[in-house]
Amino acid sequence: MDNNTVYLNGQYLPHCDAKISVMDRGFLFGDGIYEVIPSYLGHLFHFQEHMERLENSLSSIRLANPHDRAQWLEILTPLLNANLDQYIYLQITRGVGPKRDHAFPENITPTVFAMCSNIVPFADLDSGAKALSVDDSRWELCNVKATTLLANILLRQQAVEKGCAEAILVKDGYVTEGAASNIFAVIDGILITPPRGHEILPGITRDVILELAKQNNIPHSEDIISLDALQTASEIWLTSSTREIIPVVQLDNEIIANGKPGPIWQTINQLFQAYKQSRP
Ligand code: PDD
Repeated sequence: MDNNTVYLNGQYLPHCDAKISVMDRGFLFGDGIYEVIPSYLGHLFHFQEHMERLENSLSSIRLANPHDRAQWLEILTPLLNANLDQYIYLQITRGVGPKRDHAFPENITPTVFAMCSNIVPFADLDSGAKALSVDDSRWELCNVKATTLLANILLRQQAVEKGCAEAILVKDGYVTEGAASNIFAVIDGILITPPRGHEILPGITRDVILELAKQNNIPHSEDIISLDALQTASEIWLTSSTREIIPVVQLDNEIIANGKPGPIWQTINQLFQAYKQSRP
């Protein structure tokens, strides 16, 4: 199907015809969760891991999963194109209530929406990106992939307005992640990323990178990173399903190392590209 066709509550239809009620709790409250799943040449990347995170997000907001994994695969597959690198956006909201009420309505059917977009390679991959450090003003459940993203978008916009590709979020002096990405830094020769917990989204790209580092004997650790330590890093990367691994060459007004993507990024990025192509 082309990218103009979307899935909504059991139907595939042109996105201009896909409509939801104004009483949908996703619209009124941001009462829903989502997933972003890359697909390379028609194959969903780490589908099981994305499903596991989706299941965790759903149970965190006390929403029953409307489908099992096989049904999700059946729903999403028709949206994919076997000749393209794309990503699925999948959203599940609590559904349409009879009135606006913060408490959950009873006997409500979740709204399920999915669409597919082409992955556009990040433009400044060879030269590297700029990032801005900002206070992490989000809530306590950042491990949940909630559609309620107001803090994330305000923080990203602040970065964009300073000519930066991403905001690096700082809580109590420690970096957590990007506004829509996880963070890695090379400090004293060790690749470090903050540990899992409720302060970060457990990124699937993050897990793949940790596994590649392990398999290739690249010294790495999951540990807290202070903003002070980040400022001394020889490399900083931001990772996500849609942008993959972006090297950061400028943090706030400081140039990182020699201002070019670093050697460990070069190695991991090549390993990541090869790994993507090796998947069935
Ligand atoms: N965001 N942290 C946050 C806050 C994110 O929003 C994302 C991804 C990640 C990286 O997770 P993954 O490697 O599984 O994509 C980390 C997606 C791409 C989005 O919101 O569009």
